[in-house]
Amino acid sequence: AYTAEPFVPEGADLAALRSAAAGCRGCPLHRAATRTVFGAGNADARVMLVGEQPGDQEDRQGRPFVGPAGKLLDRALAEAGVDPAEAYVTNAVKHFKFTQAEPRKRRIHKAPSLREMTACGPWLAAELALVEPELIVILGATAGKALLGSSFRVGEVRGTVLEREIHGRPERLVPTVHPSSVLRARDDEDRKAAYEGLVADLRVAARALG
Ligand code: URA
Ligand code: SF4
Repeated sequence: AYTAEPFVPEGADLAALRSAAAGCRGCPLHRAATRTVFGAGNADARVMLVGEQPGDQEDRQGRPFVGPAGKLLDRALAEAGVDPAEAYVTNAVKHFKFTQAEPRKRRIHKAPSLREMTACGPWLAAELALVEPELIVILGATAGKALLGSSFRVGEVRGTVLEREIHGRPERLVPTVHPSSVLRARDDEDRKAAYEGLVADLRVAARALG
């Protein structure tokens, strides 16, 4: 089976994890992507935000949530009263998965498979064990499935505080939609409603942090 397990060093700090992840060959996604995009932010963060996978911009720049979805997320976080600079931000899958009609054509995001999510899980587990956040914000279905299992449905639990055991530790989690889903809204009216929904869920997270 695909797994990052043999690439994850024991007893490593975040910096050592990040450099080890740069060489991960745990699943085939490293082949087409430019680089591993590891988590970033405050190592003592009280809140960890978990997205799906890096997008085109993240793949180029090597940092999570620096593209359009990240800009929207930062705005929503600030509006909800969560300082993005105080957070640790990462993804369920650390390499960009995409389709491309021809070389030099636009790279189109493709959802990671359950096998790829499972393969990449040891990196997320190691990040959680080191950062030990007080709260995890789940951004969309992929992050939810990666952390809570394949029966996760974001619509059923968004904007609520869940208490679950993850890798043997009790965790509090607030699920919400992925910021990209706001960008994909059909028209301005839908986009505004989707954005307000995201902000409302993030306010639940802000309140849970106290
Ligand atoms: N979408 C994600 O899920 N993660 C990123 O880092 C960027 C876009
Ligand atoms: Fe390793 Fe995850 Fe990249 Fe697959 S997606 S190669 S498991 S870092």
